[in-house]
Amino acid sequence: MINVVVCGASGRMGQTIGRMVNESKDLELVGGINLKPGSFFGVEIVETKNAEVFLKKTKADVLIDFTIAGAAVGNVQMAARNNVALVVGTTGITADQRAEMDKAIHGHVPAVISSNFSIGVSIFLQLVRESAKLLKDYDIEVLEAHHRNKKDAPSGTAKTILQILDEEAGTRQKMYGREGITERKNEIGVHVIRGGDIVGDHKVMFSKNFETIEISHRAYDRSVFASGALLAARWVVGKKAGVYGMNDVLGFKKK
Ligand SMILES: NC(=O)c1ccc[n+]([C@@H]2O[C@H](COP(=O)([O-])OP(=O)(O)OC[C@H]3O[C@@H](n4cnc5c(N)ncnc54)[C@H](O)[C@@H]3O)[C@@H](O)[C@H]2O)c1
Repeated sequence: MINVVVCGASGRMGQTIGRMVNESKDLELVGGINLKPGSFFGVEIVETKNAEVFLKKTKADVLIDFTIAGAAVGNVQMAARNNVALVVGTTGITADQRAEMDKAIHGHVPAVISSNFSIGVSIFLQLVRESAKLLKDYDIEVLEAHHRNKKDAPSGTAKTILQILDEEAGTRQKMYGREGITERKNEIGVHVIRGGDIVGDHKVMFSKNFETIEISHRAYDRSVFASGALLAARWVVGKKAGVYGMNDVLGFKKK
């Protein structure tokens, strides 16, 4: 059995992950961490200030973090200090915060960090990569939509898409929305929609005169992210210290 502690246990993703860990046969939900104490699925949620003692007490093998960027750095450092493997899904992380996380992880613990744990999105990103190689001379637009409570924009997945497009189609300026009189140059337009309970939509459009190619992914339920996070939790325990991504978990070859 792999002992799992969920950080952000009271949140939307924390609750979904807690339920699915609790229902799984090979993972043991041993507790949660959140800003306020409580319980979920029959185990204790401790507040952040007691988290380190709790990790030791519960003999956690892996910490799954779906919180907010500012908190995730400290959570990663805490897990690394205690030799607890990591699965980090929190988005909105700045380059400096990411560097701090990587520093805490390298040489200490294995960690899977991904802006999107959906297996479908991993495949969608591969399709975006292959398309970008072939469609370098097309106009490119990126669209994403999420629920009204999402804190960061554009989404972590949209940022990953932009990074892949830069790698494969050449670095272009990003234009975050358009207003007024605008002349399209060689930028990538990035468009963010927030509303209702949209779980997560991403679309890349490659256009030129008389044709558009669209690649899109739509998540209908948070369980798609949670099941990928559980897969990553099973995979990461016992791996060599270092930072991994979903492509490693899924065995996708680097292109
Ligand atoms: N990688 C993915 O596949 C994926 C999928 C969905 C969401 N996300 C990301 O996961 C994060 C959480 O999303 P959500 O929709 O569950 O948000 P949410 O706001 O519903 O939940 C976040 C929880 O973290 C808690 N929290 C904040 N600071 C904390 C701290 N210091 N210690 C412990 N808990 C703390 C909050 O109280 C809240 O309960 C966001 O960054 C979101 O973008 C990633």
